[in-house]
This record gives sequence, structure tokens and C-alpha cells, in this order.
Amino acid sequence: MQFGPVSVNEMDDLAFVAIDNPPVNATSAAVRAGLANAVREVEASGAKAAILSCAGRTFVAGGDISEFGSPPKDPALCDVISLIEASSVPWIAAMHGTVFGGGLEIALGCAFRVAATSTRFALPEVNLGLVPGAGGTQRLPRLVSMDLCVAMASGGAVVGAQRFHEAGGLDVIAGDDPVAAAKAFADDLPDRPAALSKRDVVSADDSAIVAEREKLHARARGPQAPLHCLDALEWVRLPFAEGGPKERALHMELRQSAESVALRAAFFGQRTVAKPSAIKGADLRNVEQVAIIGGGLMGTGIATACLLSGLSVALIEQSDEGAQKALATISANLDGAVKRGKLSAEKRAAIDDVLVATADMAATASCDVAIEAVFEDVPVKQAVFAELEKHMAEDAIFATNTSYLDPLKIFDGISGPERCIGLHFFSPAHIMKLLEVIRTPQTSSQTLATGFALARRLGKIAVLSGICDGFIGNRILAAQRRAAQYLVADGAMPFDVDAAMRDFGYAMGPFEVQDMAGHQIAWANRKANPAPAHIRGVPLADALCEAGRFGLRSDAGWHDYTEGSRKPERSALVEQMVEDHRKVEGIAARAFTRQEIVQRLLAVLANEGALIVEEGIAEDDAAVDQVQLHGYAFPRWKGGPMHHAAQNPDATNAAMTAMAEESRGSWTISRRFQS
Ligand code: NAI
Repeated sequence: MQFGPVSVNEMDDLAFVAIDNPPVNATSAAVRAGLANAVREVEASGAKAAILSCAGRTFVAGGDISEFGSPPKDPALCDVISLIEASSVPWIAAMHGTVFGGGLEIALGCAFRVAATSTRFALPEVNLGLVPGAGGTQRLPRLVSMDLCVAMASGGAVVGAQRFHEAGGLDVIAGDDPVAAAKAFADDLPDRPAALSKRDVVSADDSAIVAEREKLHARARGPQAPLHCLDALEWVRLPFAEGGPKERALHMELRQSAESVALRAAFFGQRTVAKPSAIKGADLRNVEQVAIIGGGLMGTGIATACLLSGLSVALIEQSDEGAQKALATISANLDGAVKRGKLSAEKRAAIDDVLVATADMAATASCDVAIEAVFEDVPVKQAVFAELEKHMAEDAIFATNTSYLDPLKIFDGISGPERCIGLHFFSPAHIMKLLEVIRTPQTSSQTLATGFALARRLGKIAVLSGICDGFIGNRILAAQRRAAQYLVADGAMPFDVDAAMRDFGYAMGPFEVQDMAGHQIAWANRKANPAPAHIRGVPLADALCEAGRFGLRSDAGWHDYTEGSRKPERSALVEQMVEDHRKVEGIAARAFTRQEIVQRLLAVLANEGALIVEEGIAEDDAAVDQVQLHGYAFPRWKGGPMHHAAQNPDATNAAMTAMAEESRGSWTISRRFQS
């Protein structure tokens, strides 16, 4: 029998229920309705047991998130699960892949649970600003310890089959054919245990909830969903008939929350940017060997990322000594990955066979891609590519990691401009998720698509960018830094600006970030490329450098730092410098509330982002938001600056108008934010 995406087949005395709803068997309305019909069909069949499995790469991996924005359609998942749980025929969940969210909730409604060894379990609703909505927080604590429930429901932990089995979550863990394992299990079916909704909670001890709540409260500002999930877990002290509906009601309420709407926008944005229109239908060039030129901070990080993803690497430095130094850094990075459990000891040992570090460019000959990360200097980079041209295949891809230089200048004169691209990694390159993929007007769609495929292989979030000063991320950052300095010149103090942004949800304020990165390079850049005369300049950053305050490494920058500590302290000296500057400029300081500070600094992000979209540098708002979320620590539960501005258009318009009036000629306001 077929009920939409759900089929029921009877064989011997068993009913086989299968869900086939690609790509991840999400619990769409059709799946829910199909399952409800399947329960009835199975009951009518008189089967001894029903084995529930899924087609494709995974068991049910969650809800259909696209349904979350609209009114719920019947039947609700919680009701379908109650039908399964109450059925006269015991259901056996036969699981593989990622049993997430609604998938795990369905499994908890089954009488028995069987899983392939590689199966993973999670309640990731918290990552979308939600609590589970179909009994996850109510049935799980009746099966496994509260510690594990807190980690999964509130912390979003993903748990492997072995651990879940040891915790009591599974009846059988076996091989890679869960249906065969379930069949074998059904041959000798144990007595049916009480339904989870009828059982007592595994542990009476709520200390895990209390400890997690304290931890979350200690974090200044953060998403609320982890706390809501703890509330829901506490409801297991109520009868299921009360706790279940309470969880469901909270889930439905949170679907409308700003936090959930923002997190869903971030989730969908990530999907959108992965497939820009420019690469649709393009062929890929195979990439197995990567040449990395320059083994400094970035080159070694990029090499580490490539090696961790199973690629071969030829790293080229200026001298043998430089190559050895780079090798030592990469080794230390890899050892760190082993320590963090990201890389097995065997794989670590095998990497030595696929990594060469040398001063000899000939080692690049068989590489598919070259990623250049030498000094930020056009002639140096040009010389590197001219040399690479002599050694590498004509169709090898040439990529530059430049932060600010024009890739067109770097690639000037290279044969095959269609194979040239920018791959702008962020530091540390083996950890940071963002990769800006920069296209020149000549870059072919095959080169771009290959850049995106490489990013995916490296586990990065790739965002397509055109060419402009600083590309998407650093251009926006520069605008925000300028706005932060205007705030200081006009009345706020750096310490207060940072505090306001931390209040909003950033881990660090903009001045703290500058202190952490160090001021020297930016100072040198300002001297080399002075800002145009019509842009209001604030010489305070230069004054800091002249006073030897280069940031964290000199224990002094915009803030003071006690030696060895990263905690910023208010600097009386800097505040005096600020007041002196105001005096010289004749500025009458005015007070800025924290809210004004946040509104202005967010408005500038959105405004620069909107200009970038209008100019066609970024494809859409989602691209700007993803850059900010994955490269610049924008709090994910606020969605990104474009999402935030779209939710708060009046405040954004007003803040931009005020800033443009106060610093005339210094801001171009996007069409979108002109009030
Ligand atoms: P770095 O100074 O740490 O490393 C540059 C390395 O290139 C040095 O080890 C140097 O010996 C080597 N090198 C110079 N000329 C060479 C040549 N002809 N052949 C082989 N090796 C050569 O610099 P970093 O920070 O790694 O930056 C490299 C590039 O990455 C620059 O273009 C920079 O703008 C860009 N970038 C830097 C980021 C950062 O956070 N530091 C972030 C993103 C991009």
C-alpha cells in the first residue's frame, strides 16, 4: 500500500513501513499523513510488528523547515507519534544516517529502536530557536539520563550510535543494514516495554538542568532557546499528558519569535549562497593536489585545511629554511587537530606522504590549483604567478588569497584569465568557516564552480564576491570601524561602544577586535593609502600607534590590558586622548545611549551591505549576512545585518540619516535606507 511518500508492505508476519521523501525524509505534511494511514494499515494487517525505515541516505532528519512560517497542517507530528506509540502492533524504528529532530521523536514513539553503527542522533531544534515540538523533551528523559538530554536538547549535541546505545537509547546497534537487524530482532521479539510516555523519568536528579541554566545565565547575552529547552525538560516532572502539550505549545509560540525567524533566515541563507546563479550547470575541474605559495600565517592555515580534507599539498616558500618553518607550523596544527579529536592518529601519519614543503616551484607541476598567500604586494604576487605559469598545466586554477589588492592587477598578463580567481580565506584558515570566492570579469563558471566545490570539500561556507576594496567582508568592516570612531569623536568612549555591542550579542566589541588583531598593519595601510579628503578622518587610531599602543600584544590599545590577560579595561589615557581630540576639533561631546550605539553600528553594516548588493558585488542580502555570520562573528540568532535591518527598517533609516548629517560627505546612503 502506498500513502503518498509512505509505503506499507507485508511479508511473513511483519509489516515494513518505509518513508521515501528525498533528500532527508523530512516530516512534511504528506509524510505525517502517510504515517497516520500506515498505522491504521498495519493494525488491520494483524502483523506481529512493524519495521519503520527510510529510503536514501538517512532516516527522518528533521521537520520541513519551509512549513514553519505558515499555519500548521494536520495531522501534527505529535499526534502521529501518539498513534504509533498507542498502536496495538509494536513498531521498531530501523535507523541509519542522521536521526535528527522529528526523526528522533518518531523513534521515541516506537516500541523498539534499532540503528546502524554509523547513525547519529540529535535534537537540533535549539539551533533554529525552537524547542522540540513532538515530545522530544518529554520522552527522551524517560529513556536516557538527564545529563544526555540537556546536552542534546539544550546544547544541540549530536550523539553517535555507540554512545546513544550505551546510554540506553537503543535496543540494538548493528552493522549497516538496520532493516535486516530489525528483522532479526523481530524473530525473537522481547516483551513490549511500557510506552515512553507512560514511563517514569530515568533519573530524579535535575542537577544537570540547574548547572546548564547557571552556565547560560553567566553568558551575558545569548539566544533564548537553550533556556526554553531546559524549561521543557523540567516539565517531565509532570504527567506526559500535561508536559507533552506544554512543549508543543511552546514550540508553536517560538516559531514566531524573532530569534527563530532570524536563525531560520541564517539557515536558508547558507543554502542560498552555496549555489550562486553564476555556477549553475557548470562543469567541475577535478582537484586532488593543491599548491600553496607562501607558508606564513595564511599559507600554513590553508595547507592545514587542505590536508585535513584529504587533499595533497605542495607548499612553496622562499627558502628551504622557510619551508621547514612552515612544515613545523602545519605539523603543530595537525597535532592540535589530533588532540581535539578532529583527526585520527593513522590519518595524521598518512598525511606525511601527501605533504611536500620546498623552495622549488617545480613541485607544483602536477597540482590542480595554486593558492597564493605571499606578501600583500602586487609585484611579488605577479612574479609568483608568472613562475607558476612555467610549471603548472595550462588549465590549472590560479587563486590569490589577497585581502585588499585588485586580483585583475595580480593576474595581469597571465595566460588563461578565465582560470584566475580569488579565494579569500580568514585567519586561522583551518578553523574559520568563511571563504570569499572572488570572481574577476573573466573568471569562467567552471573555475568558479570548482572554487565552490573546493570550499565544500574544505568544510567552508563559500560566498561569491565581485571585486571592490576589501571585497564584501573587509569593506563592511572598514565602514563600521569608521562609524565607531565617529561615535567616539562625538561623545561615546571606546569602552562603552564595545560594551554596547557585547550587549547586542557580539563576543567582542569593535575596538577590542582591533586590539586583538593589532594596529600596526592597519596603521601602515593608512599611511600608504590615505582616505579621500571628503571623508571625515579621526586621527585617534594613529595617535594610539604613535603612543606605542599597538593592541593586545603591547598590553595597550583602545583599552588597557593587564599583562597576560585579554580582558579589556577602561583606559584613562585613551579617554584623555579622546577628550583632547574633541577639544582640538571643537566638538561638543554628546551622550549616546547603548541603544543608539548599537543602532548606528548595525545600520552601517546593513547600509554598506546594501550598497554592495546594489553594485552587484554580492548576489543578494543572504551573501552579506553569511559573510558577517561566518567571518565577523555577527550573532547568529540575530540573523545577520541585512536580516536585522529588514526587521528594523525605521531604526536603520533614522540612524543612517543622523550619521550622514553629522559627518557630511562621509556616507553614501543606499537607496533602501533613504528615509
Ligand atoms: P605572512 O607574512 O605571514 O606570510 C607570507 C609568507 O609568504 C612568508 O612566509 C614569506 O616568506 C612567503 N613568501 C613571500 N614571497 C614569497 C615567494 N615569492 N615565494 C614563496 N613564498 C613567499 O602573511 P599572511 O598574513 O600569511 O598573508 C599572506 C596573504 O594572505 C596576504 O596577501 C594577505 O593580505 C592575505 N590575507 C591575510 C590574512 C590575515 O589575517 N593575515 C587574512 C586573509 C588574507
